Amino acid sequence: MMSKPLRIGLIGTGSVVREIYQYLFFHSHWASLFDVVAAADINEPALSWFCDEYGIPREARFTDYREMLANVRLDAVQVNTPDTLHAQPVIAALEAGCDVMVPKPLASGVRDAHAMVETAARTGRLLGVDFHKRDDPRTLAAAHRVRSGGLGDYQTSVWFMLDKLLVSDPNHEPRFFASPDFVERNSPLTFLGSHMLDTLLWIVRLEPAKVRARCWSQKLPDLKPVAVNGQDMVSLDIVFTNGTTANIVTGWHLPNAAWATSVGESRLIFTNGMLDIDGARSGLRDLSHGEGLCESNVLFMNFEPDGRVSGFGMSKPGRIFEAIQSFQNGGMTEDERQRLLSPHETGFWVTAAVEAGLQSLARGKQEGDGIIGGADVDVADLLRRELGKEADTYLGAGRSQAGNEWHEIK
Ligand SMILES: NC(=O)c1ccc[n+]([C@@H]2O[C@H](COP(=O)([O-])OP(=O)(O)OC[C@H]3O[C@@H](n4cnc5c(N)ncnc54)[C@H](O)[C@@H]3O)[C@@H](O)[C@H]2O)c1
Repeated sequence: MMSKPLRIGLIGTGSVVREIYQYLFFHSHWASLFDVVAAADINEPALSWFCDEYGIPREARFTDYREMLANVRLDAVQVNTPDTLHAQPVIAALEAGCDVMVPKPLASGVRDAHAMVETAARTGRLLGVDFHKRDDPRTLAAAHRVRSGGLGDYQTSVWFMLDKLLVSDPNHEPRFFASPDFVERNSPLTFLGSHMLDTLLWIVRLEPAKVRARCWSQKLPDLKPVAVNGQDMVSLDIVFTNGTTANIVTGWHLPNAAWATSVGESRLIFTNGMLDIDGARSGLRDLSHGEGLCESNVLFMNFEPDGRVSGFGMSKPGRIFEAIQSFQNGGMTEDERQRLLSPHETGFWVTAAVEAGLQSLARGKQEGDGIIGGADVDVADLLRRELGKEADTYLGAGRSQAGNEWHEIK
C-alpha cells in the first residue's frame, strides 16, 4: 500500500531552498514523499518567491513560524534558518509533535545542539541533519575502503574547500544568500568546514580533543562598493582523542572564473596507504562561449532530461524523510530512533569542533595585516563550560578509545 505523503511545513525559504530543496520537494525521485502545505519566513521576498512558485496559498504563508506550528496540521518540519538560529524553531517544531530535518550543521554551538537532540529524545521524535556529502559515492567508497581494513590505521588528513567569491560577495547579482549579513554573521568554517569535518568523521569515526584555528580577512573587507566585515578563509588544525590529526582549509574568495562554484579536495593518510578525494571534478567539463570552463558537480545535483533532479543532494535528504515516514508508520524500532540521535549521526562532534575553532579565533592574536592566529582550545573544557554536568553524556569513559571504533553505517 502506498504511504500517504508527509504534510511538510518549511521554516526559512532562503538560498538553501532555492539551491537545493525546491528540487527535492517538487522535482526529485522523492517528490511523492512530500505535500508541502505551509511555509514561514521573516523575509517577505524570500517567502513570496517560494510560495508563488509552488502555489502555497496566502493563508498558509507565515512571517512567524509559531503561528504556522499552531495553525497548520503538519507531520514534519524542515528548518532552513541560518546555523545560529536553528535551535529555537527546531525545538518548537519538535514540541509541536513534528519530526524535523535541518540542513547541516546541526547547530553553531554545542549548547544549541545538545538542547535540540535532548528535545527530540524527550518528545519521542526524530531529528535528521542533512549532511549530504555522506551520500556522495566518493565518501561511501572511501568509508568502505577504510572499514575493510586494508589501509591500516588513520594518521592524518588535509582538506580544502574554497568557494567562488560570488557566494560571499553582496555586490554580486543575484546575491547568493537571502540574508544580506549572512557572511558577516557566519564563517567559511561553519558553512564549508562543517562539510569537510563531517565527511572525515563519517569515514573515520573520531572525536575532537584539541583545536586551533587561523583566519584571513583581507579580500572581503576590500570589496566595493559594499565591503564585508567577514573572513576570507579559515585553516583549522584538529587533534583527535586518539592522537591523530587533520587540517581543514575553507574559504569563499576564489575568483569567479574558477572552474567550479566549490573547489575541494582531500588526502587521507593511513599506516598502509592513502585516499584522495577529488571533490572539484565530477568528470563533466563544459566550455561554452562567454561562460568559460565550468565543471558542475553532477554527482551532487543532476538535471535529467525528464525534468527530474537526481544526485546525492537529493538522495541524502530524501532518505532522511523516508526514515521519518517509516517512523511515523510504525516501521522503526526505538533502538534505531536512538541511534539516529547519537552524536556521530547528528554531527554533534562537527558542531563541537567548529565552535572550538571559532573560540580559538576569538581568543587569538592579530599576527599580520588581516591575519589572526588562534589559541589552543580543549574540546572537553568547552563542553564542560557550555553544558555543565550534561557534558558527561559525551565525555564518557569510552571517549579516549573512541578513535577508530566503527558504528554501523545505514
Ligand atoms: N545555501 C546553501 O547552498 C546551503 C547548503 C547547505 C546547507 N545550508 C544551510 O542552510 C541553512 C540556511 O542557509 P541559507 O544559505 O539558506 O541562508 P539564507 O540567509 O539564504 O536563508 C535563511 C532564511 O531564514 C530566514 N529566517 C531567519 N530567521 C527566521 C525565523 N525566525 N523564522 C523564519 N525564517 C527565518 C531568513 O529570512 C532567510 O530567508 C544554514 O544552516 C546553512 O548552513 C545552505
